[in-house]
Amino acid sequence: MSADAVLHVAGARPNFPKAAPVIRALERHGVAQRLVHTGQHYDERMSQVFFRQLRLPEPDINLGVGSGSHASQTAGVMTGLEELMVADRPALVVVYGDVNSALAAALVASKLGIPVAHVEAGLRSFDRSMPEEINRIVVDHVSDLLFATSPDAVSHLGNEGIEAEKIHLVGNPMIDTLLANLDRFDVAGIRTALSLPERYVVATLHRPGNVDDAADAVGLVKAMHAVADQLPVILPLHPRGRRHLENAGLLSHRALRVVEPLGYLEFVSLVRGAVVVVTDSGGVQEETTMLGVPCLTLRPNTERPITITHGTNRLVTRSTLAEAVASTVAAGRLAVWPKPPMWDGAAGERIAAIIAKALG
Ligand code: UD1
Ligand code: UDP
Repeated sequence: MSADAVLHVAGARPNFPKAAPVIRALERHGVAQRLVHTGQHYDERMSQVFFRQLRLPEPDINLGVGSGSHASQTAGVMTGLEELMVADRPALVVVYGDVNSALAAALVASKLGIPVAHVEAGLRSFDRSMPEEINRIVVDHVSDLLFATSPDAVSHLGNEGIEAEKIHLVGNPMIDTLLANLDRFDVAGIRTALSLPERYVVATLHRPGNVDDAADAVGLVKAMHAVADQLPVILPLHPRGRRHLENAGLLSHRALRVVEPLGYLEFVSLVRGAVVVVTDSGGVQEETTMLGVPCLTLRPNTERPITITHGTNRLVTRSTLAEAVASTVAAGRLAVWPKPPMWDGAAGERIAAIIAKALG
């Protein structure tokens, strides 16, 4: 790896649509770059498919850390990256989102005195039972360039004492990817491929708070079945929750279909054509907001409140979900809604311009 390059660290599914526009924009600025894949996600459908579809460059290195406890996964990425960064010191390390790979990379770089840029800084759920919340806080406090997707994120960083000069409101690179691919989303094609009727619900579930407890999964399955009583549900299921949800009887409703995780183009096509989306994903809250597809988020809180104030998102519980689906279906899609500021497809370019200037 050449010294003085920008080193991107990505490793989990949501990192890839965020990194793609930043890497592409830095290319246009002529900045030397390297990409490390930590291997946090490794199934074809959780990783490689994004590289192909989003035309991401092949990673220069794959650390292959795989799955494990928080400590072992984070430590695996840290050890691998430390060796790399000591051998060939990058000028800047760019980390994405709130996953363990970002935490590990930010800790290693900052202790080696290498500047860190955090893409998607400042999001806060104020719920420290979420592992991601711990990661967000730590990464932000060791970062030198903080790229925020929304004004509330900028305020959170200021409230935590982070210097204003480090913080840049740039918009949302995940939305750059969405907008850049709009003409590749094929609703009719995915409906045919999955033999879906015209009106269907898409669901995704993977938060530990929803899927990690075997006994608790029964209540979630019941709530999902109450949705399937109203409309057919298609659920591309993240590997995390599969065993508990299936053991709790998820597959026993004939109008609820579970499929493997989908590629980005297939998944967003499916979302674009849905009557309602039920999810606990962070990124999906943002994508539905831009597409104008009603989103019901099965979580007690969100670090992305802008998707409620400027979008289509609503927080629901297991006991309010069925009624929320019914009222959302009855209301139909919004004709107009206020879009979050700067979610315009140019976030990657703004980030690249700031990085290029910082590198001098
Ligand atoms: C991680 C992120 C979460 C993000 C999610 C996106 C952390 C702490 N969590 O959660 O913020 O929303 O990614 O998808 O970083 N597995 C596979 N194949 C894979 C990857 C994972 O089977 O390719 C299974 C393994 O059993 C693994 C489990 O999924 O133990 C969880 O994976 P992990 O990366 O630890 O966390 P996620 O739940 O994916
Ligand atoms: N996604 C996908 N296929 C799927 C489910 C999600 O391509 O089957 C995409 C989704 O469009 C978004 C990203 O994965 O771009 C979100 O990742 P995820 O929900 O795993 O993580 P989170 O955003 O919650 O951290």
